[in-house]
Amino acid sequence: MATRNQADLARLQSRYDAAFEGISPPFAFVDLDSMRSNADVLAAQAAPLPVRIASKSIRSTSVLERVLGLEESFRGILSFTLPEALHLARRGHEDIFVGYPTADRRALAELALLAAERPDTHPALMVDEPAHLDLIESAAGRGSAPIRVAIDIDPSWWPARGRVARIGPKRSPIRTPEHARRFAAEITERPGTKLVGAMAYEGHIAGVGDDIPGRPMRSAAIRTMQSRSLDELRERLPGVVAAIREAAGTELEWVNAGGTGSLTRSKGLGIATELTSGSGFYAPTLFDTYRSLELTPAAFFCLPIVRRPHPGVATALGGGYIASGAPGRDRLPQPYMPTGLSLDSDEAAGEVQTPLVGAAAKKLRVGDRVYMRHAKAGELCERFDTLYLIEGDSIADEVPTYRGEGLTFL
Ligand SMILES: Cc1ncc(COP(=O)(O)O)c(C=O)c1O
Repeated sequence: MATRNQADLARLQSRYDAAFEGISPPFAFVDLDSMRSNADVLAAQAAPLPVRIASKSIRSTSVLERVLGLEESFRGILSFTLPEALHLARRGHEDIFVGYPTADRRALAELALLAAERPDTHPALMVDEPAHLDLIESAAGRGSAPIRVAIDIDPSWWPARGRVARIGPKRSPIRTPEHARRFAAEITERPGTKLVGAMAYEGHIAGVGDDIPGRPMRSAAIRTMQSRSLDELRERLPGVVAAIREAAGTELEWVNAGGTGSLTRSKGLGIATELTSGSGFYAPTLFDTYRSLELTPAAFFCLPIVRRPHPGVATALGGGYIASGAPGRDRLPQPYMPTGLSLDSDEAAGEVQTPLVGAAAKKLRVGDRVYMRHAKAGELCERFDTLYLIEGDSIADEVPTYRGEGLTFL
């Protein structure tokens, strides 16, 4: 994380307090200047490859479209559900793929209609087994234009051939050139599907911080795991991608890899024609623990202090926005400003209240505000209808989140 000292944070808080003076918390906001600086970092790390934007980590149509406009090299959307991809396609976006398989027959039927209108630019679907192809063909119906699909490759690391552990996302079963070739050939032989891309998302590298404060042994173990896995991927992935290319018979539109925490490392694998990033724009707390990333926190929520049960405790309203994933302290939101606050170890962040302790809690009074950060990026947007967008010292806009648009995708 880009470091800010106490004086920087006090100035930042005064700016935010002034900008939001007339607005009652709780509310959420994005600092556009910080998001812009994150965009510069991400574009530079990915260069010369373009960056596809992971929309699950943005979850606001308006912010997503702003992000896409920030850099020439930000192109295309990695969508998280087919209904979301259809929503974005209806708004005119053309370069979309859904990063995860779908079993949504209704949305597939709608996709088939779109495929008839836009045979080369309708959203592509991620597949990794024949059952996905059966479902696509049966839901899309006979005689529909072929649905664009891409093969998800398993980048997980299996030390000792998987007898000891299988480290990485449990997603695709496709690991070898033989398996990839067989599956790619099946896609091209079927009348209902057309192979357009491939993806290998190394979540155990892109989404796992390697510099955890106070955990030197764990950080060292993560670095070793990631570097061994990268060695294995450098050997294995080129053959898998070559097999897919060969069986496709035509040039793939893209080979996608990476995520916010792995842009330079994924680029180094030499297989990708593009990388993905999403979380890096908001820079939530889970992305504070990467040696390779200097991001600036850009998305926040503001809570009011509503009671003071003891002199050392200031209790804020709500705030229990726990991030998804294996439960642990790293999934909790964290107070950011004023500095010198922490969560109470008994109550943490609660459904109706979040008691805050620490030196700064003594000075907080009913009606004061605290600025919090979520552990993950897009999930914050599931808690608020709108995001204020702050630029310089003032509010530039207020835009709906997906939730505010009445869109709940996951
Ligand atoms: C397929 C895929 N690609 C890329 C990413 C990286 O997204 P982000 O940069 O938001 O961490 C993810 C995150 O889960 C993902 O599932």
